[in-house]
Amino acid sequence: MPEATFADRLKMSMEKQGLKQVDLVNAAAAQNVKLGKSHVSQYVSGKTVPRPEILHFLAKTLQVEEEWLRGNIKTSEVSGGKKMREFKKSSKLDDVLYDVRGPVVDEATKMEEDGTQILKLNIGNPAPFGFHTPDEVIYDMRRQLTQCEGYSPANGLFSARKAIMQYAQLKKIPNVTMDDIYTGNGVSELINLCMSALLDNGDEILIPSPDYPLWTACANLAGGKAVHYICDEQSEWYPDIDDIKKKITDRTKAIVIINPNNPTGSLYPKEILQQIVDVAREHQLIIFSDEIYDRLVMDGHEHISIASLAPDLFCVTYSGLSKSHMIAGFRIGWMILSGNKRIAADYIEGIKMLSNMRLCSNVPAQSVVQTALGGHQSVNDYVVPGGRLYEQREFIYNALTDIPGITCVKPKAAFYMFPKIDIEKFNITDDEKFALDLLRDKKILLIHGGGFNWKQPDHFRVVYLPRIEVLKEAARKITDFFSYYRQ
Ligand SMILES: Cc1ncc(COP(=O)(O)O)c(C=O)c1O
Repeated sequence: MPEATFADRLKMSMEKQGLKQVDLVNAAAAQNVKLGKSHVSQYVSGKTVPRPEILHFLAKTLQVEEEWLRGNIKTSEVSGGKKMREFKKSSKLDDVLYDVRGPVVDEATKMEEDGTQILKLNIGNPAPFGFHTPDEVIYDMRRQLTQCEGYSPANGLFSARKAIMQYAQLKKIPNVTMDDIYTGNGVSELINLCMSALLDNGDEILIPSPDYPLWTACANLAGGKAVHYICDEQSEWYPDIDDIKKKITDRTKAIVIINPNNPTGSLYPKEILQQIVDVAREHQLIIFSDEIYDRLVMDGHEHISIASLAPDLFCVTYSGLSKSHMIAGFRIGWMILSGNKRIAADYIEGIKMLSNMRLCSNVPAQSVVQTALGGHQSVNDYVVPGGRLYEQREFIYNALTDIPGITCVKPKAAFYMFPKIDIEKFNITDDEKFALDLLRDKKILLIHGGGFNWKQPDHFRVVYLPRIEVLKEAARKITDFFSYYRQ
């Protein structure tokens, strides 16, 4: 519907107040405002609009918002003659970025709504790419569903926590009891919970760059300050220990590592983990280790939990079934508190408080943790030669590094790659624009490096979950795009 003209708004307001043209003239005279009959009739017929003083008088007399009468505010923004209050998001969100579902993704959604098919290489969601959870997990959830109607204990069902505790034992995580395990609606909920329970305004926490952006978002949302340390592409994307040391201040409370890493696919060896532990020990930092991809490790490497190297420090280790068991939609993750819990007794009180406040995590999903973590691990078949993830990685790594101007550290784990673009060759100064241009030209959605708190405009992340035929098509289009693209 077109917006009402000034004349429409004037007539509408006069009718509402039951005033005729002559009443306005009389009211003006009573207030010594110069307003003739002919003026009013010209306003009503839309021939002219009044001067500011007259407009002010009319708005006051008709009891409407002056800006609305003038046409500067839409009718939908006015109620009872008054400008409606506008609701803005909290300023706490000013420093929060989560581009994994951000503006480039919004554009892709618009294009899809218009009927365009988009090839999505943007999100680590296994199910849409034909990765399914083992049947046994589904059978067991169905069998237990009727027993999952009520809330569980806040930190989780006994059976789930027992299985997680045994898992912690296998990973040599020290000093873990049943009370040190908390289930969550995905690791996501627990990251948010831990940041809220720990950080006072201005407290600093070391977070990798590039990162999985939820960590930075939750730290900032909690009032803390995410301080990014560099992961070094020249050294297999391992954390740069000197950079970590340089960024520690007397406000630094903790360090986050993501191992195996999203977005780089890097897997940290024991020596690197040991150096991080040494720094944390020297500066008395908590270690938060996000290990959601710990079972998706290739090339015969072994994943090591950093908590196993730090029995004297307080550590929190995160994992879940979203990726290893391909049930991201069921929302089940957990965290394990370990090591020196005495020094964190008060913080743990805070964690308990927030955990109690959310009552519990999704109970049907908790009911299958024991089934999922025990017995045959189907994920192992995906990550060896001939397995889908292994072969898809081989394909996309080779295809993308064949493009002149694109280089990449080969990922060892998870299902992501973080290739580097020669920005001088392609004259790229804005990586979000690059992602939008690729989307519009080739209908391929991926996330630019900036979405992972990477400061230079020279990287993008590829999710290599799609089957090889689909990746082939994607690689062909991306190759073509780089053959002509210049920003
Ligand atoms: C590094 C990392 N941590 C945490 C999560 C969140 O996982 P969840 O599904 O358990 O919330 C993701 C999801 O992509 C991730 O990549």
